[in-house]
Amino acid sequence: MSLPNLAPIPELYVSYESAQKLKHEAGTLASWDLTPRQVCDLELLMNGGFNPLKGFLTEADYTGVVEEMRLADGTLWPMPITLDVSEAFAGQVEPGQDIALRDQEGVILAILSVTDKYTPNKAREAEMVFGADDLAHPAVNYLHHQAGPVYLGGPVVGIQQPVHYDFKARRDTPNELRAFFRKMGWRRIVAFQTRNPLHRAHQELTFRAAREAQANLLIHPVVGMTKPGDIDHFTRVRCYEAVLDQYPATTTTMSLLNLAMRMAGPREAVWHGIIRRNHGCTHMIVGRDHAGPGKNSAGQDFYDPYAAQEMFGKYQSEIGVEMVDFKQMVFVQERAQYEPRDEVEAGATILDISGTELRRRLAEGLEIPEWFSFPDVVTELRRTRPPRANQGFTVFFTGFSGSGKSTIANALMVKLMEMGGRPVTLLDGDVVRKHLSSELGFSKEHRDINIKRIGYVASEITKNGGIAICAPIAPYTATRRAVREMIEQYGAFVEVHVATSIEECEKRDRKGLYKLAREGKIKEFTGISDPYEVPESPELRVETENVDVDNCAHQVILKLESMGLIGRS
Ligand code: PPS
Repeated sequence: MSLPNLAPIPELYVSYESAQKLKHEAGTLASWDLTPRQVCDLELLMNGGFNPLKGFLTEADYTGVVEEMRLADGTLWPMPITLDVSEAFAGQVEPGQDIALRDQEGVILAILSVTDKYTPNKAREAEMVFGADDLAHPAVNYLHHQAGPVYLGGPVVGIQQPVHYDFKARRDTPNELRAFFRKMGWRRIVAFQTRNPLHRAHQELTFRAAREAQANLLIHPVVGMTKPGDIDHFTRVRCYEAVLDQYPATTTTMSLLNLAMRMAGPREAVWHGIIRRNHGCTHMIVGRDHAGPGKNSAGQDFYDPYAAQEMFGKYQSEIGVEMVDFKQMVFVQERAQYEPRDEVEAGATILDISGTELRRRLAEGLEIPEWFSFPDVVTELRRTRPPRANQGFTVFFTGFSGSGKSTIANALMVKLMEMGGRPVTLLDGDVVRKHLSSELGFSKEHRDINIKRIGYVASEITKNGGIAICAPIAPYTATRRAVREMIEQYGAFVEVHVATSIEECEKRDRKGLYKLAREGKIKEFTGISDPYEVPESPELRVETENVDVDNCAHQVILKLESMGLIGRS
């Protein structure tokens, strides 16, 4: 067997015996607990999915990748695969040292021989890799708000694969897929990368691609990390399994890829191509807006919808995978079939349901037509996304101390309880500080921990179909955003800015705290000696001066109704 795409690919794992020995020795090394994204990256590093990388990027490789999409030796590589760590951990590590890389349960997965320790210019990384230093881009937001400030680079020795308990039989390493293709006698394989459920348009697209490339089809969905707010991978895999029997088993297979996507559009497409090459594929489908992150903070698309195809085309021979490119597929009513938008006859009736429209229909329990999707897929989606009026949600009040947050939150709770249907939990600032955060003070760091705890509890409540009402000060935009992201995976996040001015709060001074703050007896007091970042676009802003509490709470009820969160179910 001499086909280069099917020969075994190098992995970074050592033998079982060496792994046992190393694991034992590694017990005494400084160790880093990997973040979920780092676990995904490490898995693909170790199993050859990121070949030719042999570890986390060194500074020279990182600079080359950021500036020119190339490793220091000139090899094409579009995405920084970096081990970001905290300042505190970086302080304990020097180049030349080995560190143990552990998963979230403390299992040692690999050893990193640190050769480089460097502080990246994150703004530059954002500009060059993602096209803009704009926090509306999920990976830029991650870079600035979740990734640590220092990067460690160096080769990795793999001890064991990260453990997965779900869909084990559907997960394959590059070598397992290569072996499968060899066994099946498949020579030409076209990969379909996706982070969404498959509907009829995707089926048509994949059929056409396989025909066009005269290739077998690998449906290769990402189950690592996708765009915040996407449908969870458990649901998606059930959806994929439901449509798999629509495909001929002799020419199609499906395998799950534990990739952490970055939504980097063109660069990401090139990266996906290299990863598919490593998995033994010869072709890859690149459709409209491949790995697109959505709109930027000015409401415009980050990338041109066909920029990914353009960039892939440019680097195709270096990637080693041929692109099968498609325009957007649309349903042509007169012909009762899907066609690429640019091939549709003039005057024909085009039907299309965008991702946003699909979410709206699911959220409101509206019809999803047969021409759009498969009944089994729709049933799965409806199980996971019941109509909004049956889903959990969080109302998050923010504002100065004494602005009226707690009072309005209490009134809202009573009104929601009167309506019934879902359990309501109030996470008031004072109450949380008593029961969840009693050891915390009011430094930025402590406030952030406090708010993230509230966010975590609210996200669990939301996930389980309840209503969480939170009423902390929550003075920092970035922290509020982090909480929003935690919750929006499971249901709506309704931010309500209680916009009482600091003068009015001080005048009311219900708890006498402002007086003490003015006298310097309470330090770091929000609005007096500590910052409050006013929310720019909350779902609702309520003025409390000259408006009674009942009316303020009612405004929130109206907002919830307009968002479909209460009412019809
Ligand atoms: S934060 O920033 O969101 O973590 O604050 P939070 O937990 O909501 O604060 C709860 C109450 O703590 C009282 N308090 C202070 N607030 C602001 N700054 C300082 N330094 C401070 N020290 C004590 C204050 O009464 C907050 O109550 P609320 O419910 O907002 O009136």
